[in-house]
Amino acid sequence: MTTKSLIIPAAGSGSRMQKETPKPFLELSGATILEHTVRQFLSLDGLVQVVVATSDEYLSHANTILDKVLPEDVKGYSVSGGDERQDSIRNALAVLPDVDLVMIHDAVRPFVEAKRIVECCKEAQRSGAAILGVPAKDTIKRVDDSQFVEETPDRNFLWQAQTPQVFHKNVIVKAFEKAKRDRFSGTDDASLVEYLGRKVRIVKGSQTNFKITYPLDLDIARMLIEKKTG
Ligand code: C5P
Repeated sequence: MTTKSLIIPAAGSGSRMQKETPKPFLELSGATILEHTVRQFLSLDGLVQVVVATSDEYLSHANTILDKVLPEDVKGYSVSGGDERQDSIRNALAVLPDVDLVMIHDAVRPFVEAKRIVECCKEAQRSGAAILGVPAKDTIKRVDDSQFVEETPDRNFLWQAQTPQVFHKNVIVKAFEKAKRDRFSGTDDASLVEYLGRKVRIVKGSQTNFKITYPLDLDIARMLIEKKTG
């Protein structure tokens, strides 16, 4: 059985949500979004550790949530997040034990399905790096500084990256080391692995695994949770 560690970035200001409380700590149906998210991973074979990266004020809140939801054989940690998502992940990577796979999953994607996580882990085990994603449904424009369109890439080759993003431990550790040396920054973890020169495979996910980003997303999340809990 492959052993797995789960890193959950849950820091950041949440400015797009226009709320004081950071998104992962907003409540939906009596539990924080972070709690809903962690629970999606608990049926996974070989899970040994969950690390949450969060701002210092929320460290103890994160610990309380982990204590509540994790079974005894899964260790929970919370670590301080950084200014950028990449810094938050770097701090979490520093406390990894000896595991086969590292899964990185946004705290604000509570609707990821367990079967998709399993598929993504299987592919990562085979190829070293795999992420969930969905084919782009909108036409995507590349623009210049003044918002003039420069290019319309062929939509058939465009996918939206989601999480989890799953890697062999040595691959993601090396990718973060190289990114630090070269001061390379990316908006997801796979882009650091691509920069390392390794292939990343996309596994088809689903639209329900959306990232709660704007107030409208929170309304949709509430509806989905209410539907699920009846
Ligand atoms: O800001 P973005 O939408 O990319 O956030 C994705 C995830 O990364 C969220 O779960 C957020 O809490 C986390 N994040 C973080 N540290 C930051 C910024 C974002 O852990 N500095």
